[in-house]
Amino acid sequence: MTSSDDPKDNSKPKRRIRYKGTHPRKFHEKYKELAPNQYVEDIEKIKSRGATPAGTHRPICVNEILEILNPQPGNIVLDATLGYGGHSSLILQKILPGGRLIGLDQDPIELPKTELRLRAQNISGTTETIPESALIVESVNFENAFSVLRTKGVPLVDLILVDLGVSSMQIDDPSRGFSFKIDAPLDLRMNPLKGQPAAALLSRLKEKDLIKILIENADEPHAEQIAKALLKNRPTTTIKMADTIREVIKTFTPRVQKEEGDAPIRRAFQALRIAVNDEFSALDQFLDDIPRMLKRGGRVAILSFHSGEDRRVKKSFQARERLGVYSKVAPTPIRPSFEEQHSNPRSKSAKLRWAIK
Ligand SMILES: C[S@@+](CC[C@H](N)C(=O)[O-])C[C@H]1O[C@@H](n2cnc3c(N)ncnc32)[C@H](O)[C@@H]1O
Repeated sequence: MTSSDDPKDNSKPKRRIRYKGTHPRKFHEKYKELAPNQYVEDIEKIKSRGATPAGTHRPICVNEILEILNPQPGNIVLDATLGYGGHSSLILQKILPGGRLIGLDQDPIELPKTELRLRAQNISGTTETIPESALIVESVNFENAFSVLRTKGVPLVDLILVDLGVSSMQIDDPSRGFSFKIDAPLDLRMNPLKGQPAAALLSRLKEKDLIKILIENADEPHAEQIAKALLKNRPTTTIKMADTIREVIKTFTPRVQKEEGDAPIRRAFQALRIAVNDEFSALDQFLDDIPRMLKRGGRVAILSFHSGEDRRVKKSFQARERLGVYSKVAPTPIRPSFEEQHSNPRSKSAKLRWAIK
């Protein structure tokens, strides 16, 4: 572990990281952002510019989620997508004393760092860290949440939070291949120990299957042209994939080019990421399992980031409300406030839905 990984280590790096120019540009050079506990003022400055400090994640719709879930001392909470632990660190404070939070994430790279940070946090207003037993962290896909809860001896919970998609740490880390702006192997797996990288998927897909992925996972209007180009080039890196799609965009009319900008590239990355991680089947399984994990009167809040996710959440909640499984569900999705969308552009596409059992 390096000094910057350990949230209890207040010592600054012994030697300044070397970089070209006046400011660090590459992910690994951003030593202040990668040690947010040691450079609190610098981190606040970065956030006030609407940016997310490298290696961190800014939790979205925090007030709205806390209002919906209304965590109380003694509550048992499942955070199915722990990420950076932004939501969970606040929820933990509210469920103590007596409460317990079970945090899941399928990302084995970020999860140990998040667990360290959460365990090192003090109970607010005291110098005591949170009790060992108040936090259970498990590196697992949330499609297995029901069996994890059983194994941990907490089959029913009061509150469930799901914050879908990828974390900023995953997007910003050049070695993970999530961003079309940073050159990296085309991987896109949240759990790099499981399944195949996106490049391997592209190398074996047939045209009709890739068209289906682009349409179903990202509502891509130019699916056929993009699929043809990707299968002709079979890119193995993020930049090559982005360049391949840029060549397709150049064939659009000037009006469509202007309207679309980089959107076809973003959508193709999203579509492949969903396919590589099998995201929809995990979400469908989790939505089916929520009623058997939640106590009567328990509440669930789900943040989604594109129509394919939101459609699934909405359908599942509304169908189960009609069956009487949920007593009440969100009539319409809640959107981040204008201020939040402005200060954190990554929140722009978020939609929050809730249900009460
Ligand atoms: C948007 S981030 C969550 C951020 C978190 N709420 C916070 O405040 O820091 C989404 C996280 O969910 C994880 N994730 C996505 N799909 C998952 C799945 N099917 N099972 C487990 N974890 C998943 C990702 O690895 C990522 O860390």
